Amino acid sequence: MTTTVSAASTARLLPGKPVAEAVLAELAPRIARLSEAGHRPGLATVLVGDDSASAGYIRMKQDKAAELGMTSPHTHLPADATQADLEAVIAKYNAAEDVHGILVQHPTPPQIDFDAAMGTMDPDKDVDGLHPLNMGRLALGMPGPIPCTPAGIEALLAYYDIPIAGREVCILGRGTTLGRPLALLLSQKRPTANAAVTVVHTGVDDWPRYTRRAEVVIAAAGVPGILQPEHISAGTTVVGGGVRYEGRKLLPDVDERCAEVAGAITPRVGGVGPTTIAMLFRNTVEAAERRAGVSRPVA
Ligand SMILES: NC(=O)c1ccc[n+]([C@@H]2O[C@H](COP(=O)([O-])OP(=O)(O)OC[C@H]3O[C@@H](n4cnc5c(N)ncnc54)[C@H](OP(=O)(O)O)[C@@H]3O)[C@@H](O)[C@H]2O)c1
Repeated sequence: MTTTVSAASTARLLPGKPVAEAVLAELAPRIARLSEAGHRPGLATVLVGDDSASAGYIRMKQDKAAELGMTSPHTHLPADATQADLEAVIAKYNAAEDVHGILVQHPTPPQIDFDAAMGTMDPDKDVDGLHPLNMGRLALGMPGPIPCTPAGIEALLAYYDIPIAGREVCILGRGTTLGRPLALLLSQKRPTANAAVTVVHTGVDDWPRYTRRAEVVIAAAGVPGILQPEHISAGTTVVGGGVRYEGRKLLPDVDERCAEVAGAITPRVGGVGPTTIAMLFRNTVEAAERRAGVSRPVA
């Protein structure tokens, strides 16, 4: 499929929605099998405070869980909840046999130390995959929840038949939620990974030297417009992972004029985001399968 995004652009668009739908469709029979065996997957959600955007994200995830036949117990703590209140809820879900994944919606109010709270979560239920133990598992290639956005990016490239094995993938950013786990994931020895990964950051003054020679460039900096057309070569695949919000306005890392040079590119809106959410559910189902003793299908 070739979609034109502007008069000057011929880049193939890589929307995340069909990828997410394919991931969720593949989960459906696995959820049914688990449920029939008495292990219906459960994704618990926790919201602290009354931020309306966060409440909306939680509702959307609960609706999707219900649609998939999963349970989704929810706890809403008041905006003045203490660290102990949040950790007590996490402890409750850690102990709950019918909960396989726990999601604490970020951001939390300022009195909450989010990372410290995450540290109290059972790593096997950490569906964001960002617990230190899960980052260690990722580095060692051990089974466990995989950080959702990196997993979504791998799935997106695979879905659109963009091979990365043996090719140079340059990641702009080494942050702990995106760039660093993505580098670990895409350099693993698997058919949909196996890439020659280069990671650039503020310590690399001439980082465009690396992005220009890469076949796939993934922006993961959270700096609006950091990736410009002159930073890529004709035909490059560009994936926009980094975004910053100003109020409700989304400001992506990838300047939209990159579509005039790229061979394929994620859209400004609806690229990596939907795949991230699908991976949350995949992590929950895989956690339930591991707990039920069902072997994990080979990717
Ligand atoms: N789409 C999604 O669903 C999703 C999910 C997760 C994260 N994200 C987004 O992904 C982005 C990265 O997240 P993160 O937590 O990994 O970020 P982070 O910890 O803030 O890391 C940002 C990285 O970008 C690098 N960087 C910043 N400015 C740069 C510059 N001018 N030149 C070169 N490198 C630069 C930084 O380099 P140094 O290390 O040298 O400082 C750092 O490695 C954020 O925008 C976040 O919102 C999106």
